Amino acid sequence: MTVLVVGASGATGSKLVEQLLVQNQKVKVIVRSPEKLPLSWKTNDNLQIITASVLDLSDAEMRTIVSDCDAVASCLGHNLTFKGIYGKPRRLVTDATRRLCDAIKANHPKSTIKFVLMNTTGNRNRDLNESISFAQKCVIGILRLLLPPHVDNEKAADYLRTQIGQNDTYIEWTAVRPDGLINEDKVTPYEIHPSPTRSAIFNAGKVSRINVAHFMERLITDDNLWNKWKGQMPVIYSK
Ligand SMILES: NC(=O)c1ccc[n+]([C@@H]2O[C@H](COP(=O)([O-])OP(=O)(O)OC[C@H]3O[C@@H](n4cnc5c(N)ncnc54)[C@H](OP(=O)(O)O)[C@@H]3O)[C@@H](O)[C@H]2O)c1
Repeated sequence: MTVLVVGASGATGSKLVEQLLVQNQKVKVIVRSPEKLPLSWKTNDNLQIITASVLDLSDAEMRTIVSDCDAVASCLGHNLTFKGIYGKPRRLVTDATRRLCDAIKANHPKSTIKFVLMNTTGNRNRDLNESISFAQKCVIGILRLLLPPHVDNEKAADYLRTQIGQNDTYIEWTAVRPDGLINEDKVTPYEIHPSPTRSAIFNAGKVSRINVAHFMERLITDDNLWNKWKGQMPVIYSK
């Protein structure tokens, strides 16, 4: 299969690309700075590198890029700099999600395309009755005011949940919710839950980016796992 990865130059996106390549999948990436990518990527025949800032692509360019893709994965996130957090684009993740989905739909693919969004346990799945404490509600409210990227993550998942929904003709989706991200070199045992089992604010767990990437790769390549989690927002913790 062919998989488009956006946010591929990031800490998690790069792990996802590597895991897809190990599984012999064809991968396309859209990156702003190809010079940062490992040399091994540039010589890999299964990898196509498209140099662009994803939101600068025209609708027609996006449609062409996704036209031969069976799955699209987003590991986009705002860079943790003042400009990344408070500058434009304020809705990087949401706008990229919406525009990539529009591009998929405009192509009228013969079979449904998988869309996997990297999201966060700081976001609730409002399709489920996920209750959080009053104190956590207050902190999340403050985060919404102070941290535009948090709102962006919420809106991106909301777009999939409410605009694509559960019965779209062309797109099926999963929004993967990692807890606190850490870096590790190897995939280790991890657990997946439909909803958080601990407070993302007051008792956050940890998950390695490589484990998140592994789960995203498995969702894309394993239809049984996909059927278990499609239309949901699974939470991932390293064990
Ligand atoms: N930190 C945590 O504990 C935590 C927990 C749960 C979820 N998350 C979420 O996980 C996501 C990814 O995390 P990460 O650590 O893997 O992210 P990361 O390493 O910062 O990667 C972010 C990616 O987004 C791209 N990007 C940033 N701004 C862009 C722009 N304006 N236009 C196009 N591309 C842009 C970056 O490209 P460049 O390389 O070109 O900059 C990079 O590929 C984030 O959404 C974050 O909110 C984080």
